[in-house]
Amino acid sequence: MGILLKNAFVIDPIAATAAPMDLLVEDGVISALAAGIAAKGHEIIDCTGLYLAPGLVDMHVHFRDPGLTYKEDIITGSAAAAAGGFTTVACMPNTKPVLDTPDQMEYVLEKGKNQGFCHVLPIGAVTVGQQGKTLTDFPALSQAGAVAFSDDGVPVTSAVRMRDALNAAKELHKIVISHCEDGEMVKNYAVNEGEVSRQLGLPGRPAIAEDLMVARDLMLAKETGAHVHIAHVSTRGSAQLIRQAKQDGVSVTAETCPQYFIYTEQEILKKGTMARVNPPLRTEEDRDAILAAVLDGTLDCIVTDHAPHSAEEKARPLPDAPSGMVGLETSLAACLSYLVKPGYLTVPKLIRKMSVIPAAILGLDAGTLRVGGAADLCVFDAEEQWTVDPQQFRSKGRNTVFAGDTLTGKVKLTLCGGKITHREDI
Ligand code: DOR
Repeated sequence: MGILLKNAFVIDPIAATAAPMDLLVEDGVISALAAGIAAKGHEIIDCTGLYLAPGLVDMHVHFRDPGLTYKEDIITGSAAAAAGGFTTVACMPNTKPVLDTPDQMEYVLEKGKNQGFCHVLPIGAVTVGQQGKTLTDFPALSQAGAVAFSDDGVPVTSAVRMRDALNAAKELHKIVISHCEDGEMVKNYAVNEGEVSRQLGLPGRPAIAEDLMVARDLMLAKETGAHVHIAHVSTRGSAQLIRQAKQDGVSVTAETCPQYFIYTEQEILKKGTMARVNPPLRTEEDRDAILAAVLDGTLDCIVTDHAPHSAEEKARPLPDAPSGMVGLETSLAACLSYLVKPGYLTVPKLIRKMSVIPAAILGLDAGTLRVGGAADLCVFDAEEQWTVDPQQFRSKGRNTVFAGDTLTGKVKLTLCGGKITHREDI
């Protein structure tokens, strides 16, 4: 019968503007978008005082499916995505087995389509088993639905392999997403190398380990003419290298996650393993530089790097616990709280970085609102305050650095393909 969303502040993420309008959803698509649409037997949802945005797009999540589903699976991960306002996510391949064959691409796509709460897209591994030795069959993976290539979780250590990967991806008009850390320099260390690592008497992951790999991959992108996308940028040095490369005309885009412009390594002292993530939370200087790079567009988009782990795993001592934090259910609120509330970004500009830009980087037809287009959208209150209680998450992962924090901004409604995938108090 259709759903009529009335009186929303509708965001156009391309123009980065918002205007009061109604939006009508019929047969899975947006059938009208205008002021004062008359209801004709449609379900009416009053969105007065709320923003209506394109469904958010997260190009960097870990859904652990197949093989590590005690941490998360495609059903719970996509439910968490819907609760966070996302309608499209791209899954990193560090599953068990690794997403390195066409069958694995099909597995993710099929399960997402049949049982998921959003569009779930696979990212193919760069190397077989993410072992860094043999390139996967890029054309076959692409054919089967891989939206990009990455060995995220681990770096592609060999420059030869990375160069080959960039050339292979270029042929297919796809991108390589690079996890930039020098593996030998970071080993399995838990925290940033610096004040906190010294205080705890632990070896650390130095900023230079990230900067070196970023510099290498920018040089390889320049040489091959291929497009590299730098994952989870966390250091001042990397941001500066990417800024310079863009000025030099290198085909590069880059992302960061809320934790890197909100928190520093000090969080480890307060929150222990919940603040353990790769790359690690860094210094105040890094955090400020990441924020500046988000604002000046050096960092094109914001992703979550949603990385669920079990309570048992995160209960281990800091050096033995796995790295990563969940983010899908807090990302929009964290960004509204720390980017919009202090006046750094307008709401439409933030939504650009969480929808149309990541969609464009992956070459997806997503992240916009247009008549005739899929009704993938979210509605949120940009002012509502709430306290993060991980026990309420749809995700199996409760490992968040935001537990107990009060954030501003709450997702009220998410529609994917015209179906309600999340709804609360509206
Ligand atoms: O902290 C992280 N966890 N960083 C990554 O790059 C991978 C992720 C994971 O898979 O747990």
